[in-house]
Amino acid sequence: MSVGCASLFFDFFARMFLVHAFSHAVILAIIITVMAEEKTCDLLGEREQESSKELALMNRLKPLFNQSFETESKNDEGHYIYRLRICREVFSNMTNSGLVQISKINNKQKVIGRINETHLANGTSWIMLIYQSGDPYDRHCTQEDRKALVMIICNRTTLATGFTMVAEEKEKIKQCSYVFELESSLACPPEELHQNVHHHLSIGSILLITFSSLIAVYIIGGFLYQRLIVGAKGMEQFPHFAFWQDLGNLVADGCDFMCRSKPQNVPAAYRGVGDDQLGEESEEQDDHLLPM
Ligand SMILES: *[C@@H]1O[C@H](CO)[C@@H](O)[C@H](O)[C@H]1NC(C)=O
Ligand SMILES: *[C@@H]1O[C@H](CO)[C@@H](O)[C@H](O)[C@H]1NC(C)=O
Repeated sequence: MSVGCASLFFDFFARMFLVHAFSHAVILAIIITVMAEEKTCDLLGEREQESSKELALMNRLKPLFNQSFETESKNDEGHYIYRLRICREVFSNMTNSGLVQISKINNKQKVIGRINETHLANGTSWIMLIYQSGDPYDRHCTQEDRKALVMIICNRTTLATGFTMVAEEKEKIKQCSYVFELESSLACPPEELHQNVHHHLSIGSILLITFSSLIAVYIIGGFLYQRLIVGAKGMEQFPHFAFWQDLGNLVADGCDFMCRSKPQNVPAAYRGVGDDQLGEESEEQDDHLLPM
């Protein structure tokens, strides 16, 4: 009896322990995922106050987030490699590093711009990415922080290519910068839409103009022919007047048949009465239609 009771207790505690261990593991896993969430570009302002334009541009650049770009630059002051990532850290041991300069001579690394101070702007076929808050200059530019300007230019043939250094400006007393270029289709305007609309419009208007001038020629030419050569008078001067009148009647009949909601037998009775009473008149109308 007591042995059974003890094992029951043991069982209970074992279960409790398992439940606890499991829930702790879940909480720990959640904390780890939250902490390991990859850093991304931090725009100016708190979450609610960020510019919607910059957020839209950041979204547009998302396909480039997992890429890394590199370019070499050599001048009389040194030989460097520049490495860029879009909204990701170049080196995880260099906090927020978005663009890093690596000296080929002594392997020294400098952060040119950081992703936690990102600015974005765009025009019709370019996007400008600015990383501020780089490592400070030693002597130049009143020892302000370095800054990287990356001009992303429209190139429809590629997702990303041609990362190059364009210039380094450090003669100014402030607002110095490292300027780069990158080509990407993401910077292109949605042009197909634009062109197609333009195209369709012009084809449509050409057809419309052609059609309406043909009609005008037909009416004027026919009118002159009827009047001067056939010698018609009044409404008869219109070309194929009887035909169009017939067609009009036909369409009206068709419409009457299709659209009117009165019962089927009523028009039949009406027509019967009408035929009897209007016999002469309808003959007269038929005569009217005969010439032509
Ligand atoms: C960006 O990150 C750097 C390095 O982690 C830090 O020194 C700087 O204050 C940060 N800037 C902002 C605006 O958070
Ligand atoms: C800039 O980018 C936004 C968001 O992608 C876009 O809606 C806007 O048309 C672009 N501006 C110009 C001038 O192309």
